[in-house]
Amino acid sequence: LSIAGLEALIEELGLDTPIPDFPQSSPLRSPIDIYRAYLADTASAVLQCDRHLTYEAVQSANIRDNSDLALVLPKLKLKSDKPKELAKECLVKFKPTPLLQLPLPDGVHLRFIFSTSTLPRLILPYIDDRKSEYGHNPSLALGDVSAPNPIPKKVVVEFSSPNLASEFTAAHLRSTILGAQIANLHESMGWDVVRLNYLGDWGKELGLLAVGWGRFGSEEAFQKGPMGHLLEVYEKISELFRPEKEASKRARDERQDTATIETRGIFAERDAFFKRMEEHEPDAVDLWKRIRDVSVGYYSRAYARLDIEFDEFSGESQVSPESIEEVESILREKGVYEESGGSWIIDFSKHGPKSLGVSVLRGRTGSTSYLLRDIAAIFDRDKRYSFDKMIYVVTSEQDVHFSKVFQAVRYMGRGDLADKLEHVGFAKPQGLSPQLGKVHLLGDIIDQSVSAVQATLGAKHDTPFQIGNTEAAANVLGISALVAQDTLHKRANGYSFNTKSLCSLEGESGPSLQASYAKLSAKINESDLDGVQLADIDLEYLQEDPWTEVIRLMAQYPDITHAAYRTHEPSVILAYLFRLIEELASCFDDADEDDEDEGEGEGPGGPEETRGTSLKVPEPPEAILAQAMLYKIARQVVDNGMSILGLTPVIT
Ligand code: ARG
Repeated sequence: LSIAGLEALIEELGLDTPIPDFPQSSPLRSPIDIYRAYLADTASAVLQCDRHLTYEAVQSANIRDNSDLALVLPKLKLKSDKPKELAKECLVKFKPTPLLQLPLPDGVHLRFIFSTSTLPRLILPYIDDRKSEYGHNPSLALGDVSAPNPIPKKVVVEFSSPNLASEFTAAHLRSTILGAQIANLHESMGWDVVRLNYLGDWGKELGLLAVGWGRFGSEEAFQKGPMGHLLEVYEKISELFRPEKEASKRARDERQDTATIETRGIFAERDAFFKRMEEHEPDAVDLWKRIRDVSVGYYSRAYARLDIEFDEFSGESQVSPESIEEVESILREKGVYEESGGSWIIDFSKHGPKSLGVSVLRGRTGSTSYLLRDIAAIFDRDKRYSFDKMIYVVTSEQDVHFSKVFQAVRYMGRGDLADKLEHVGFAKPQGLSPQLGKVHLLGDIIDQSVSAVQATLGAKHDTPFQIGNTEAAANVLGISALVAQDTLHKRANGYSFNTKSLCSLEGESGPSLQASYAKLSAKINESDLDGVQLADIDLEYLQEDPWTEVIRLMAQYPDITHAAYRTHEPSVILAYLFRLIEELASCFDDADEDDEDEGEGEGPGGPEETRGTSLKVPEPPEAILAQAMLYKIARQVVDNGMSILGLTPVIT
C-alpha cells in the first residue's frame, strides 16, 4: 500500500479529503495514525486551535474504556469562562465522520470511538496489504532521508556472551532470548543490525582452566564430550583453587598484603599461563584455541535451535592490542590513568562520579582486565562497523561495570561515542538448575525444557489441539515454553523458573500460545477460503462485537511494536498477543454457540435482521467466510509478533 493506494481506500470509505499531513504521524506505519490525523485536523478546525498542538492532544485511549482515541482538552489551552462546561461546549461542535462516531465527554477528555461500519473496511485491507511487514517501520532508522538512497543506520546488539568452559547461567539465557528479540525489533524498524556475541574467552579464568587441563584433562574424554569434559576440568581445578582464593579474599578484607598469597601456588600457575596467552606463546594459544573452537561450534548449534544466528563470535580474546594501547595512552594523556602498587588504575571517585570507586585496568602481572578489554572493544567495533548505536544486553548486576566503561570513554574525550552506547540490563531469573534438573549448558536447558513439555503432553490424553506428541512438535513447544516464560516478565522483574507453568497448556505460556495458534489455524483451514481474496468478502458481517473488538486490537499492533522497540521491552508484544488470542477465543465461543443453536432459529427473516440478536439462525455462508478471513488476517498479526519474539508456530 502506497500513500496513493491508501488514499484510494480512504476515498472508498467516503472521506473526501486526503489524509491530513502531520510530521508526527505515519499513516503507512500505523492505521491508528490515520484516525489521529483526521481527528486532529477536524478538532483544530472546529475548536480553532493550533494543528500541531491538537495532534499532540490526541491520545490512544484504553480500549477497555470502550473508546479508541481521546482528545485531552487542557492540552489545547482553550479559553473558557466555565472550564467545567468546556467538554460539553466542544462536544456539540463535532459532526460524525465516516471514521469516527460522535464523541463522548469524559471529564476533561473527549472520547472517540472508531466507526464500526468503516473499521473493518480500513483495517483489514491495510493489514492484508502489509502482511509480514505490518508492525514494522523500516523508515525509522533511515539516516539522511533527503538523500536519494538513504542508508539505514547501524546498530550492534551484543548479547548472550557466555564464558568458555563455565556454566551457561540463567543470566546468559535471558540475555540470549531478550537480546535476540531486541535485535529483531531493531531490524523490523529498519536498522542494519549486527548480532554480536562477546564470549568470555580470555582472562585469568581461562588461565585457570588451562592449569586444570594440565592436571585433569583427558584427550579421550575430550573427544567423547568436549563441553562436558571442560566443565568437569574447570570444576575440579576451581575446587582445588578455592582455599587460595579464600585466603586472598580474607587478606584483602583485612586490608593485608595479598601479594604473598597471589604469587605462589595455583595463583601463580594461573597468572603465568594467562601471561603466556597474552604474549601469544604458541602452546598456550593452541590449547586456548582448541577450547574456543569446540565451544563456538557447540554454541552455534544450540543457538540455531533457538533460531538465532550471530554475525560475529567476537570475545574478550579478540580485542586488538592496538585499541588497548590507544585507550591506555589517551587515558594517561588525559591524566586519569595512574600506577598504584604495580597496577594501572582509574580512580573514578577522583574524577567523578564518586560512586564508581577505583578500578584496575592492568594488573600487577601486566595483564589486561575485563574493564580495559571492554573499553578497547568499543574502539575496535567503532572501526569495524562505524555503528550509530550499540546495545549491550547484559544482566543489571553489571550496571556499575558498564557505567565505568562508558565513563572511561568520556574521560577520553569521546562523549560522542559514549552517547551511542546503551546498556540494557535485566533482572536475573532464579532457580534454573534445580527446576530444570542439572543443567550447565544451553543445550541442556533446551533439552530439559523439551522433555518437560513431552511429559505434559504425554500425561494429557486429549491435547486441546492436533499437535500430537511427536519429537519435532515437542522440540518447538519446549523452545516456545522457554522463550515465553522469559518474555512474560518485564526486564526489570526477575522470576523463578517453574517447569509447571512453563509447560502448561493453559494460561499464559508458550505451549498455550501454540495451542491457541493451532486452534486458529484449524478454524481457518476448515473454512473455504481457498482462492478467496479479501475483496470478495462482504465486510458488513464484521461490523459488530466480537469481531470489531478483534479488529480494534489488531489496529493497535504497530503501536505495540513501537512501544516494545522504544523501551526494549518485548514483553509488551507477548502480553498483546495473549490479549488478541483472548479476543479471538470469544469470537470462537460466539460462533460455537451459533452452531449449537443450529436449527432452532425461528422463522424466515433474513440474516440482516437477526444477526446480533438473541434469535439465532444459522449464519449465512458469507458471514462464516468473512469470519474466516478475519481469523486469517488476525493470524498474520500473531505471526508477526511471534516472529519478533523468536517463536515458531508448531502447526501452520
Ligand atoms: N561474559 C560476561 C559474563 O558472563 C558477559 C559479557 C557482557 N558483555 C560485555 N561487553 N562485558 O558475565
